[in-house]
Amino acid sequence: MAVEKTLSIIKPDAVAKNAIGEINARFEKAGLQIVGMKMIKLDDEKAGGFYAEHKERPFYPALVEFMTSGPVVVQVLKGENAIAANRELMGATNPKEAAAGTIRADFAESIDANAVHGSDSPASAEREVAYFFSEEELCER
Ligand code: PPS
Repeated sequence: MAVEKTLSIIKPDAVAKNAIGEINARFEKAGLQIVGMKMIKLDDEKAGGFYAEHKERPFYPALVEFMTSGPVVVQVLKGENAIAANRELMGATNPKEAAAGTIRADFAESIDANAVHGSDSPASAEREVAYFFSEEELCER
């Protein structure tokens, strides 16, 4: 098994619910280390650039509006198979389809406001971590 890093975002809906601690407890209990972390307010340019691959999708404007509607926590999780492990903890994109006990099943209301983001491949993880963090901002243990 490979040790990987993956980008996690706790989205505005989950931050507004005061769920940062509960979500991060799930990551840590699953053996993922938080090696980079910051709370930021995204603007249209930063959120739009992050989701650029979805620019032509009908939900893109609403997605950018949602992601700029309040603070988010961007963080880097590190551990064995971190990319897949994080996605398993998150559950399906649509919380109505998310398995019981996953973060989205427990904290998300809808596919538009689904509590968390996680990189979906090693290539995305590399791009997404670098989108928010410099090497100096990561505290690898
Ligand atoms: S897809 O369809 O496989 O390309 O979708 P996915 O890779 O899961 O990423 C889609 C991101 O857009 C967010 N989003 C929505 N997806 C589908 N439908 C609607 N209506 C929608 N609204 C928002 C979805 O949560 C994914 O964001 P992230 O942050 O990656 O979870």
